[in-house]
Amino acid sequence: MADAVLRQALDRAVDLARRGPARDPNPRVGCVLLAPDGSVVAEGAHRGAGTPHAETAALAAAGDAARGATAVVTLEPCTHHGRTPPCATALVEAGVSAVVYAVPDVTAAGGGAQVLAAGGVDVRREPHPGAEDLVADWARAACLGRPHVTWKIASTLDGRVAAADGTSRWITSPQARSAAHTLRSRVGAVLVGTGTAHADDPGLTARDDDGMLAPDQPLRVVVGTRDLPVGSQLAAAVAAVADAAAGRRPADHDADDPRPGEVVHLRTHDPAEVLADLRARGVHGVLLEGGPTLGGAFWRAGLVDELLVHLAPALLGAGPHAIPDLGIGTIADAARLELVEVTTLGPDLQLRLRPTTPAQED
Ligand SMILES: NC(=O)c1ccc[n+]([C@@H]2O[C@H](COP(=O)([O-])OP(=O)(O)OC[C@H]3O[C@@H](n4cnc5c(N)ncnc54)[C@H](OP(=O)(O)O)[C@@H]3O)[C@@H](O)[C@H]2O)c1
Repeated sequence: MADAVLRQALDRAVDLARRGPARDPNPRVGCVLLAPDGSVVAEGAHRGAGTPHAETAALAAAGDAARGATAVVTLEPCTHHGRTPPCATALVEAGVSAVVYAVPDVTAAGGGAQVLAAGGVDVRREPHPGAEDLVADWARAACLGRPHVTWKIASTLDGRVAAADGTSRWITSPQARSAAHTLRSRVGAVLVGTGTAHADDPGLTARDDDGMLAPDQPLRVVVGTRDLPVGSQLAAAVAAVADAAAGRRPADHDADDPRPGEVVHLRTHDPAEVLADLRARGVHGVLLEGGPTLGGAFWRAGLVDELLVHLAPALLGAGPHAIPDLGIGTIADAARLELVEVTTLGPDLQLRLRPTTPAQED
């Protein structure tokens, strides 16, 4: 089949996959079945855990027309016996003659392609950046066995995250804050400790430069044993959901408009427990927005995968430090990081860093 036809079918499969839920234990997948002349026989997309996989949905829609077809799929067909039968086996049994997939399944180690080839199906990979983007977070979380964690810090040049009186709005520029909102719209959950919930009354929504809600909103998660502050934005969001559920007041939004993410309050101090809870909710990526106490707890637990520092050309000379005591007493034990990327955000610097092994003596 012509490469242009396959590429067009892959583009379509990616569009179909995007309709699936971003926050789900399963990856988003789309599938297009093509007849030998290149015409579309059927399409399918995965709609979330417990529903049919994209390939099974397309096969069901195609019926007997699946025989001899080429299945174009965004992700290598699975071999798992879960709530739905393995897709690789279903494709073989339906009599498809070829499978073209864009991204290998990191959880299957080539198993899907092997089952297909053993069943006499012509299998090949056709890389597609859009398909890779769709499952990047899911694949990273699958390899880690938990959500990927980015700790984001907005700090002055002297490493302060707030002034001596507790005020921290705004340390960084509008450009840096705009970038932070974009980051929020790309993760499954945004996390703060109760200390930040009390000090800053954050909304933790993702907004555009006009203050409008972005289409994709993260779960808003507060960690700590204290109650949410009375009258705060996060407490009001919880109360509004409870009121709407009890019929005490109507939901005040159009069903098609973006809504702020659900607020989840986890009354624990255990970072691993937090990530296990979020994983069960289908979260693949977490933006940890502080404060220093919660960030430090994740760091000490070895659960920070990336540090994103928005460094403002400002000095405070006093106020809370970005990084709390990590129990490091001597220079040889300094926590070292690899500088992955430096960009400017207006007058601020954005440093992207990854933890490396502890420092070695020169
Ligand atoms: N510039 C920035 O990037 C930035 C970002 C966020 C915050 N801030 C600033 O940071 C300050 C707040 O700092 P913070 O450190 O108090 O905030 P925090 O880290 O958000 O919250 C600390 C609280 O989280 C709870 N907690 C959860 N897990 C914990 C653990 N493993 N160990 C200990 N406590 C745990 C505890 O409260 P419970 O008693 O309720 O359990 C603790 O008091 C404010 O001034 C705020 O403006 C700055």
